[in-house]
Amino acid sequence: MIEFKNVYKEYPNGTVALRDVNFKIADGEFVFIIGASGAGKTTITKLLLKEEEITKGRIIVGNYDLSKIRNGDVPKYRRNLGYVFQDFRLFPNMTVFENIAFAMRVIGEPNAKIKKMVPVILQTIGMSNKMRSYPRELSGGEQQRVALARAIANNPKTIIADEPTGNLDPKMSYEIMELLERINNIGKTVIVITHEKALVDYFKKRVITIKKGIIINDDIGGGYTYKKKDILSLGASSNPSELLNPVNSVKKVNRQNNYSNNLNRPGR
Ligand SMILES: Nc1ncnc2c1ncn2[C@@H]1O[C@H](COP(=O)(O)OP(=O)(O)OP(=O)(O)O)[C@@H](O)[C@H]1O
Ligand SMILES: [Mg+2]
Repeated sequence: MIEFKNVYKEYPNGTVALRDVNFKIADGEFVFIIGASGAGKTTITKLLLKEEEITKGRIIVGNYDLSKIRNGDVPKYRRNLGYVFQDFRLFPNMTVFENIAFAMRVIGEPNAKIKKMVPVILQTIGMSNKMRSYPRELSGGEQQRVALARAIANNPKTIIADEPTGNLDPKMSYEIMELLERINNIGKTVIVITHEKALVDYFKKRVITIKKGIIINDDIGGGYTYKKKDILSLGASSNPSELLNPVNSVKKVNRQNNYSNNLNRPGR
Protein backbone atom coordinates (compact mmCIF):
# COMPACT_ATOMS: atom_id res chain seq x y z
CA MET A 1 0.00 0.00 0.00
CA ILE A 2 1.04 3.57 -0.70
CA GLU A 3 -0.17 6.25 1.65
CA PHE A 4 0.36 10.02 1.63
CA LYS A 5 -0.59 11.63 4.96
CA ASN A 6 -0.79 15.43 5.12
CA VAL A 7 2.16 15.73 2.75
CA TYR A 8 3.66 19.13 2.02
CA LYS A 9 6.53 19.76 -0.32
CA GLU A 10 8.31 23.07 -0.47
CA TYR A 11 11.30 23.32 -2.81
CA PRO A 12 14.36 25.27 -1.61
CA ASN A 13 13.36 28.29 -3.74
CA GLY A 14 10.13 28.62 -1.77
CA THR A 15 7.78 27.01 -4.30
CA VAL A 16 5.16 24.99 -2.45
CA ALA A 17 4.45 22.14 -4.86
CA LEU A 18 2.20 20.01 -2.61
CA ARG A 19 -0.17 21.18 0.14
CA ASP A 20 -1.69 18.74 2.59
CA VAL A 21 -1.89 15.87 0.12
CA ASN A 22 -3.71 12.76 1.34
CA PHE A 23 -4.42 9.56 -0.51
CA LYS A 24 -4.10 5.81 -0.21
CA ILE A 25 -3.40 3.45 -3.08
CA ALA A 26 -4.02 -0.22 -2.38
CA ASP A 27 -1.88 -3.00 -3.82
CA GLY A 28 -3.04 -3.90 -7.31
CA GLU A 29 -4.87 -0.62 -7.99
CA PHE A 30 -4.68 1.34 -11.24
CA VAL A 31 -4.66 5.08 -10.64
CA PHE A 32 -4.42 8.07 -12.91
CA ILE A 33 -2.97 11.28 -11.49
CA ILE A 34 -4.05 14.23 -13.58
CA GLY A 35 -3.71 17.97 -13.42
CA ALA A 36 -2.39 20.97 -15.32
CA SER A 37 1.28 21.65 -15.89
CA GLY A 38 2.95 22.61 -12.63
CA ALA A 39 0.17 21.10 -10.50
CA GLY A 40 2.60 18.86 -8.60
CA LYS A 41 2.25 15.50 -10.33
CA THR A 42 5.94 14.80 -10.88
CA THR A 43 6.66 16.04 -7.37
CA ILE A 44 4.49 13.20 -6.06
CA THR A 45 6.60 10.68 -7.96
CA LYS A 46 9.87 12.31 -6.87
CA LEU A 47 8.80 11.98 -3.25
CA LEU A 48 7.78 8.38 -3.84
CA LEU A 49 11.13 7.56 -5.40
CA LYS A 50 12.84 9.42 -2.59
CA GLU A 51 14.57 11.69 -5.05
CA GLU A 52 13.17 14.59 -3.02
CA GLU A 53 12.50 14.83 0.70
CA ILE A 54 9.09 15.53 2.21
CA THR A 55 8.81 18.94 3.91
CA LYS A 56 5.96 17.93 6.23
CA GLY A 57 3.74 14.87 6.59
CA ARG A 58 4.35 11.18 6.03
CA ILE A 59 4.58 8.77 3.14
CA ILE A 60 4.23 5.07 3.82
CA VAL A 61 5.03 2.54 1.11
CA GLY A 62 4.47 -1.04 2.24
CA ASN A 63 6.66 -1.52 5.28
CA TYR A 64 8.65 1.64 4.66
CA ASP A 65 8.11 5.03 6.25
CA LEU A 66 9.97 7.24 3.78
CA SER A 67 11.00 9.84 6.36
CA LYS A 68 12.64 7.16 8.47
CA ILE A 69 14.26 5.06 5.79
CA ARG A 70 18.07 4.94 6.12
CA ASN A 71 20.14 6.14 3.15
CA GLY A 72 21.68 2.70 2.85
CA ASP A 73 18.23 1.16 2.43
CA VAL A 74 17.08 3.51 -0.34
CA PRO A 75 18.30 1.33 -3.26
CA LYS A 76 16.54 -1.68 -1.78
CA TYR A 77 13.39 0.36 -1.27
CA ARG A 78 13.48 1.67 -4.86
CA ARG A 79 13.44 -1.89 -6.17
CA ASN A 80 9.77 -1.95 -5.24
CA LEU A 81 9.14 0.71 -7.85
CA GLY A 82 9.49 0.57 -11.61
CA TYR A 83 9.64 4.04 -13.09
CA VAL A 84 8.98 5.08 -16.67
CA PHE A 85 10.16 8.51 -17.69
CA GLN A 86 8.41 10.66 -20.25
CA ASP A 87 11.53 10.87 -22.40
CA PHE A 88 12.23 7.11 -22.11
CA ARG A 89 15.86 7.59 -20.97
CA LEU A 90 17.03 4.48 -22.77
CA PHE A 91 20.78 4.10 -23.14
CA PRO A 92 21.50 5.05 -26.75
CA ASN A 93 24.58 2.85 -27.08
CA MET A 94 22.87 -0.28 -25.86
CA THR A 95 20.54 -2.51 -27.79
CA VAL A 96 17.00 -3.20 -26.60
CA PHE A 97 18.24 -6.44 -25.02
CA GLU A 98 21.12 -4.69 -23.26
CA ASN A 99 18.93 -1.86 -21.99
CA ILE A 100 16.75 -4.33 -20.13
CA ALA A 101 19.63 -6.58 -19.12
CA PHE A 102 21.41 -3.58 -17.63
CA ALA A 103 18.54 -2.86 -15.23
CA MET A 104 18.71 -6.45 -14.02
CA ARG A 105 22.49 -6.47 -13.74
CA VAL A 106 22.37 -3.35 -11.55
CA ILE A 107 20.56 -5.26 -8.85
CA GLY A 108 22.88 -8.24 -9.18
CA GLU A 109 20.76 -10.71 -11.12
CA PRO A 110 22.86 -13.61 -12.44
CA ASN A 111 23.64 -13.74 -16.17
CA ALA A 112 21.77 -16.99 -16.68
CA LYS A 113 18.57 -15.43 -15.36
CA ILE A 114 19.05 -12.30 -17.46
CA LYS A 115 19.54 -14.36 -20.63
CA LYS A 116 16.41 -16.29 -19.89
CA MET A 117 14.18 -13.44 -18.71
CA VAL A 118 14.91 -10.63 -21.16
CA PRO A 119 13.46 -12.51 -24.17
CA VAL A 120 10.40 -13.42 -22.10
CA ILE A 121 9.84 -9.78 -21.16
CA LEU A 122 10.35 -8.68 -24.76
CA GLN A 123 7.82 -11.19 -25.91
CA THR A 124 5.32 -9.87 -23.39
CA ILE A 125 5.58 -6.39 -24.87
CA GLY A 126 5.64 -7.61 -28.47
CA MET A 127 9.21 -6.54 -29.14
CA SER A 128 11.02 -9.85 -29.63
CA ASN A 129 11.95 -8.94 -33.18
CA LYS A 130 13.68 -5.72 -32.06
CA MET A 131 15.94 -7.32 -29.46
CA ARG A 132 19.12 -6.28 -31.27
CA SER A 133 17.95 -2.83 -32.35
CA TYR A 134 19.28 0.38 -30.86
CA PRO A 135 16.85 2.95 -29.45
CA ARG A 136 17.44 5.32 -32.39
CA GLU A 137 16.18 2.57 -34.71
CA LEU A 138 12.83 2.40 -32.91
CA SER A 139 9.65 4.46 -33.12
CA GLY A 140 8.57 6.52 -30.11
CA GLY A 141 5.97 3.95 -29.12
CA GLU A 142 8.49 1.12 -29.40
CA GLN A 143 10.97 3.02 -27.25
CA GLN A 144 8.24 3.62 -24.70
CA ARG A 145 7.47 -0.10 -24.65
CA VAL A 146 11.14 -0.88 -24.03
CA ALA A 147 11.16 1.69 -21.21
CA LEU A 148 8.15 -0.10 -19.74
CA ALA A 149 9.86 -3.45 -20.14
CA ARG A 150 12.85 -2.11 -18.29
CA ALA A 151 10.61 -0.83 -15.50
CA ILE A 152 9.01 -4.24 -15.02
CA ALA A 153 12.19 -6.29 -15.52
CA ASN A 154 12.95 -6.53 -11.83
CA ASN A 155 9.42 -7.46 -10.93
CA PRO A 156 8.59 -4.38 -8.85
CA LYS A 157 5.28 -4.18 -6.99
CA THR A 158 4.45 -0.79 -8.42
CA ILE A 159 4.91 0.83 -11.82
CA ILE A 160 4.90 4.61 -12.02
CA ALA A 161 4.66 6.09 -15.49
CA ASP A 162 5.07 9.87 -15.82
CA GLU A 163 3.38 10.96 -19.05
CA PRO A 164 4.00 7.60 -20.75
CA THR A 165 2.13 8.73 -23.83
CA GLY A 166 3.38 12.30 -23.90
CA ASN A 167 4.99 12.17 -27.31
CA LEU A 168 2.94 9.46 -28.94
CA ASP A 169 0.13 9.46 -31.47
CA PRO A 170 -3.33 8.27 -30.34
CA LYS A 171 -2.87 4.72 -31.58
CA MET A 172 0.48 4.30 -29.83
CA SER A 173 -0.89 5.94 -26.69
CA TYR A 174 -3.69 3.43 -26.67
CA GLU A 175 -1.27 0.53 -27.04
CA ILE A 176 0.91 1.75 -24.20
CA MET A 177 -2.15 2.16 -22.01
CA GLU A 178 -3.30 -1.36 -22.85
CA LEU A 179 0.11 -2.64 -21.91
CA LEU A 180 -0.13 -0.82 -18.57
CA GLU A 181 -3.57 -2.32 -18.10
CA ARG A 182 -2.14 -5.79 -18.71
CA ILE A 183 0.63 -5.12 -16.23
CA ASN A 184 -2.08 -4.14 -13.74
CA ASN A 185 -4.01 -7.31 -14.53
CA ILE A 186 -1.09 -9.43 -13.41
CA GLY A 187 -1.35 -7.80 -9.99
CA LYS A 188 0.96 -4.78 -10.17
CA THR A 189 -0.03 -1.43 -8.80
CA VAL A 190 0.04 1.04 -11.70
CA ILE A 191 0.19 4.81 -11.34
CA VAL A 192 -0.09 6.82 -14.54
CA ILE A 193 0.48 10.54 -14.66
CA THR A 194 -1.00 12.19 -17.67
CA HIS A 195 -2.37 15.35 -19.26
CA GLU A 196 -4.45 13.37 -21.70
CA LYS A 197 -8.05 13.59 -20.67
CA ALA A 198 -9.20 11.35 -23.48
CA LEU A 199 -7.07 8.49 -22.16
CA VAL A 200 -8.37 8.97 -18.66
CA ASP A 201 -11.96 9.06 -19.83
CA TYR A 202 -11.42 6.01 -21.89
CA PHE A 203 -9.66 3.67 -19.47
CA LYS A 204 -12.13 3.90 -16.65
CA LYS A 205 -9.95 3.85 -13.55
CA ARG A 206 -9.55 5.76 -10.35
CA VAL A 207 -8.56 9.36 -11.00
CA ILE A 208 -6.76 11.64 -8.57
CA THR A 209 -6.95 15.25 -9.72
CA ILE A 210 -4.41 17.73 -8.43
CA LYS A 211 -4.54 21.47 -8.86
CA LYS A 212 -1.86 23.86 -7.61
CA GLY A 213 -0.57 21.26 -5.18
CA ILE A 214 -3.96 20.38 -3.74
CA ILE A 215 -5.98 17.26 -4.45
CA ILE A 216 -9.32 18.55 -5.66
CA ASN A 217 -10.89 15.23 -6.56
CA ASP A 218 -10.25 11.56 -5.86
CA ASP A 219 -12.64 9.53 -7.89
CA ILE A 220 -12.15 6.19 -6.19
CA GLY A 221 -15.05 4.39 -7.79
CA GLY A 222 -14.08 5.35 -11.31
CA GLY A 223 -17.56 6.85 -11.51
CA TYR A 224 -16.70 9.99 -13.43
CA THR A 225 -17.82 12.60 -11.01
CA TYR A 226 -15.90 15.43 -12.60
CA LYS A 227 -17.16 18.88 -12.02
CA LYS A 228 -17.67 20.70 -15.28
CA LYS A 229 -15.39 23.57 -14.31
CA ASP A 230 -12.61 21.12 -13.46
CA ILE A 231 -12.93 19.41 -16.79
CA LEU A 232 -12.78 22.68 -18.64
CA SER A 233 -9.82 23.88 -16.63
CA LEU A 234 -8.02 20.67 -17.53
CA GLY A 235 -8.61 21.24 -21.21
CA ALA A 236 -10.89 18.27 -21.74
CA SER A 237 -13.42 17.36 -24.38
CA SER A 238 -15.83 20.02 -25.56
CA ASN A 239 -18.72 17.87 -24.42
CA PRO A 240 -18.30 17.17 -20.72
CA SER A 241 -21.73 15.52 -20.44
CA GLU A 242 -20.26 12.51 -22.18
CA LEU A 243 -17.69 12.18 -19.45
CA LEU A 244 -20.31 12.28 -16.77
CA ASN A 245 -22.19 9.34 -18.11
CA PRO A 246 -20.30 6.04 -18.10
CA VAL A 247 -23.15 4.46 -20.09
CA ASN A 248 -21.92 6.43 -23.04
CA SER A 249 -18.70 4.49 -22.97
CA VAL A 250 -17.94 2.92 -26.29
CA LYS A 251 -18.23 -0.77 -26.96
CA LYS A 252 -15.14 -2.82 -26.48
CA VAL A 253 -14.91 -3.95 -30.10
CA ASN A 254 -14.64 -0.35 -31.23
CA ARG A 255 -12.47 0.84 -28.43
CA GLN A 256 -9.49 1.80 -30.45
CA ASN A 257 -11.26 3.68 -33.24
CA ASN A 258 -13.47 5.50 -30.86
CA TYR A 259 -10.55 6.35 -28.70
CA SER A 260 -8.76 7.92 -31.65
CA ASN A 261 -11.94 9.78 -32.59
CA ASN A 262 -12.13 11.14 -29.07
CA LEU A 263 -8.68 12.54 -29.44
CA ASN A 264 -9.52 14.15 -32.74
CA ARG A 265 -12.64 15.80 -31.48
CA PRO A 266 -12.52 19.58 -31.66
CA GLY A 267 -11.99 21.42 -28.41
CA ARG A 268 -8.98 19.48 -27.30
N1 LIG B 1 13.45 21.29 -8.26
C1 LIG B 1 12.52 22.26 -8.16
N2 LIG B 1 12.80 23.42 -7.54
C2 LIG B 1 11.86 24.38 -7.42
N3 LIG B 1 10.61 24.28 -7.87
C3 LIG B 1 10.28 23.14 -8.50
C4 LIG B 1 11.20 22.06 -8.67
N4 LIG B 1 10.58 21.06 -9.34
C5 LIG B 1 9.33 21.49 -9.55
N5 LIG B 1 9.13 22.73 -9.05
C6 LIG B 1 7.89 23.51 -9.05
O1 LIG B 1 6.91 22.76 -8.33
C7 LIG B 1 5.65 22.85 -8.97
C8 LIG B 1 5.15 21.46 -9.33
O2 LIG B 1 6.03 20.91 -10.30
P1 LIG B 1 5.83 19.44 -10.89
O3 LIG B 1 7.05 19.13 -11.69
O4 LIG B 1 5.49 18.53 -9.79
O5 LIG B 1 4.57 19.70 -11.83
P2 LIG B 1 3.80 18.68 -12.81
O6 LIG B 1 2.40 18.61 -12.35
O7 LIG B 1 4.57 17.43 -12.94
O8 LIG B 1 3.83 19.52 -14.19
P3 LIG B 1 4.01 19.00 -15.73
O9 LIG B 1 2.67 18.51 -16.13
O10 LIG B 1 4.39 20.26 -16.44
O11 LIG B 1 5.08 17.97 -15.75
C9 LIG B 1 5.85 23.79 -10.16
O12 LIG B 1 5.48 25.08 -9.78
C10 LIG B 1 7.32 23.72 -10.43
O13 LIG B 1 7.79 24.90 -11.00
MG1 LIG C 1 5.61 16.53 -14.52
